[in-house]
Amino acid sequence: MPRETKRNDQFLLIHSGRADNWREITTLADAWANKQGERAALEDALTALSASEEYHAYPGARLLGTLTERIATNDAGGAAKLARRISNGLLTRVYRGRPAEWDVHDEMSSGEVADIMPTSTGETGPRRPYFEVLFVNSQPAARWPALASEIRRLRRPEDAFIYEPIFIGSFEDALCAAIVNPDIVSVVLAEGFPYRSRHEVPVLRSVLDPLGELETADKSALRLARTLKRIRPELDLYLLSDREVEKLAGDSAADAIRRIFYAVEEPLELHLAILEGVQARYETPFFDNLKNYARRPIGTFHALPIARGKSVFHSDWIRDMGDFYGINLFLAESSATTGGLDSLLEPTGNIKRSQEMAARAFGADHVFFVTNGTSTSNKMAVQALLAPGDIAVVDRNCHKSHHYGMVMSGAQPYYVEAFPMTEYSMYGAVPLDTIKRALLALRAEGRLDRLKLLDLTNCTFDGHMYNVRRVMEECLAIKPNLVFLWDEAWSGFARFSPFLRPRTAMGAAAEIEEWLRDPASVTAYEKQQEALGKKPTDDVLLATRLIPDPRKVRLRVYQTNSTHKSMSAIRQGSMLLVKDVDFPTVEAQFHEAVFTHASTSPNQQLIASLDVARRQMELEGYGLVMNAIEIALKIRRAINEHPLISKYFRVLGADAMMPQAYRQSGFTDYLTPGSTWATVVKAMREDEFYLDPTRMTLVCGTAGFDGTQFKGLLASTYDIQLNKTSRNSVLLQSNINNTRSDIAHLVRVLVEICHAIEKRLADGGEAEQTAFKARVKSLMTDVPDLPNFSRFHDVFRGDAGTTTPEGDIRTAFFGAYDPAICEYVPLFGAECDRRLREGPEMVSANFVIPYPPGFPIMVPGQVLTQETIDFMRKLDVKEIHGYEKAKGLKLLLPDAITAKVRR
Ligand SMILES: Cc1ncc(COP(=O)(O)O)c(C=O)c1O
Repeated sequence: MPRETKRNDQFLLIHSGRADNWREITTLADAWANKQGERAALEDALTALSASEEYHAYPGARLLGTLTERIATNDAGGAAKLARRISNGLLTRVYRGRPAEWDVHDEMSSGEVADIMPTSTGETGPRRPYFEVLFVNSQPAARWPALASEIRRLRRPEDAFIYEPIFIGSFEDALCAAIVNPDIVSVVLAEGFPYRSRHEVPVLRSVLDPLGELETADKSALRLARTLKRIRPELDLYLLSDREVEKLAGDSAADAIRRIFYAVEEPLELHLAILEGVQARYETPFFDNLKNYARRPIGTFHALPIARGKSVFHSDWIRDMGDFYGINLFLAESSATTGGLDSLLEPTGNIKRSQEMAARAFGADHVFFVTNGTSTSNKMAVQALLAPGDIAVVDRNCHKSHHYGMVMSGAQPYYVEAFPMTEYSMYGAVPLDTIKRALLALRAEGRLDRLKLLDLTNCTFDGHMYNVRRVMEECLAIKPNLVFLWDEAWSGFARFSPFLRPRTAMGAAAEIEEWLRDPASVTAYEKQQEALGKKPTDDVLLATRLIPDPRKVRLRVYQTNSTHKSMSAIRQGSMLLVKDVDFPTVEAQFHEAVFTHASTSPNQQLIASLDVARRQMELEGYGLVMNAIEIALKIRRAINEHPLISKYFRVLGADAMMPQAYRQSGFTDYLTPGSTWATVVKAMREDEFYLDPTRMTLVCGTAGFDGTQFKGLLASTYDIQLNKTSRNSVLLQSNINNTRSDIAHLVRVLVEICHAIEKRLADGGEAEQTAFKARVKSLMTDVPDLPNFSRFHDVFRGDAGTTTPEGDIRTAFFGAYDPAICEYVPLFGAECDRRLREGPEMVSANFVIPYPPGFPIMVPGQVLTQETIDFMRKLDVKEIHGYEKAKGLKLLLPDAITAKVRR
């Protein structure tokens, strides 16, 4: 059995923690009813829970009151029955669609039947989506039940949604409720509430301080509104005021409020506004129209025979495809851009509206939907933002789409290196110091004007998240109009968690935007300038946290994300987000990029799924991301604290994933004893790099498996799929679709694998044990050094700075098209060694990208060094893009190129 460590204050385990607490209450109640436990234990557990239960609508005051009463009157059987009913209700969520669940007297329902009755079988027809509304008010708590009943009376059969009110009475409680209850999607603030909670909630309070929510003189509803928006920007906020509402409405501080009501006015108006606010997020313009389109009897005379499905369903031979996918897939297909549909290439109707809604949801000014994955979004952004000869500082370890984007645009990549994690054959992220050095070097060369773009991956495949705000601010201090492209292929969902959002492009851009508006920022800048003096040295600039000049900054931020990787979009669904004050100057280029890259036959279902993914994230994204984080923390703990599994496997903590120097707050890991919300938030705010907890590097070399082999074993024998591997690890990702059952399955599988290892070692005796040790050593310690980018050959640096490493990758790339200037040299052989020793230098003709690790070991025009060759020779992976084993390394003949370039 795993060691059971119970830490109530453990970071973030709030949602599943609630389910666990109720299960414990049920167990205690059962024990008491069966005369095997004490009433006091049950009472204590219930008391411990009561404060945070106030942040949830269900079970609510009535059911909780009944439970307390049954305990007080020694009705052990009744208490156990009700506790079980509540616990099951929470697990199955049946209360959302079954009014009887809220009824104190409806004893025969839920508990017993809930686990056999799926939630979709509501009592009356299809279930209306359910949500909860938080009412923050200054009325005495005794009045809350009556107020809640008044609100419930406003419900009408024609309402599209159904909601339950939750009443609380302080600033702190409002924040706590918004944090712990993901079902809250709207908040009504009635002025006059105090700051402090009436409960002692030390854990929750400890998170408010690092989030910057200290008690101040300003306890106003407007301040609470701003704070709530910072934590959950998707919430609709309503203000009830008995002050001069006309004046309030004109105050810019009220920007966060969706609607202001004069407190004594018609409550029905508020009810309708709440429903309308949810409808505005629920609406999916493209998907809604596609559904309408599919319902219509349309004759098609265009080139998509599969549309309407007749060629499929009338066929004896391919009907199974129709049966498998269902009729709607075909009814909703069309190659037309009219009749309720729209054109992805030139959207003017519902795609345009869907994109605008996505922009709102993701905090961008504009969004482009992309149907060929982020591979395409990146190429579009790079092409639109860079012209031939422009320089881009780019992480060499980034996805190949960026490199190919540079080739296409003719831009000159200035490769910067991420910190290596040699032990695990992978890279981290690019240190800020390296980025600043690059900018300063270009400045020293007088080439800063040629630098257009900083292009980084955030988070990296393995979970390193940049301090995005700091990176942008310090770069803007050196070049105030630098454009940023953040490849957030993996972390689009991060927008919906306050624990990740500040580390995203759009989250950080919003913070910088606010900072730019603050008059104190100019003062801070001027003060720093004074301290730095007229001509600070590079060393001083590198050692200083630079403040940009707010008057000069042009905030130009782009983000790409594989919506399909972290949200409910169909594969290849991707978005390109724009937050650029100078977007009008490049807008035409973006349209060209769309025309270049977007298929003229985009898939309708894909576009619809982008629309729907946005809807989901706006309405339940917060809870889903919290769940993904919780699952990840549970997996981390289940593996690292399991006595058998941890003998052979371990999930790397933040301390192993990034050197201490990048964890300035002192954060070690999520599992470290004493790690709380507060320490995590501090790390998220301050550290240079932060580990996305949902990305878990599981070391398997210590169990004698290389990454590829282990991935294969999990897939073939245990039906567990994963994606990325390294020489000695695999990457586990938790996502918005994972459940606790998935954790249980994974743990069972790892236990089984460990038993098999132990048996093999025991049966095989000393010989087997020696072989095992040797295998582990080979995987864990005989790891090849990761080769840095060497340099572009001089032939491709005609236009480059003398000390800066950028190069003309496009000429090198197209050089490979001419067999007359190419040669092949076998990787293993005397000729390769001789060339390394005596020259002429070997110059790569193309990208060579081994999987894993998936970054280019060689790019076109790059000079090959001993390190590159050593790494290639040690690689034991099957898939190496750009390298044909039979022919050898494809090289350019520099002399021939020189001659060609001169011609
Ligand atoms: C960092 C990064 N960017 C972009 C992509 C490409 O995204 P897509 O698969 O959506 O084309 C990937 C794919 O793995 C990636 O890891």
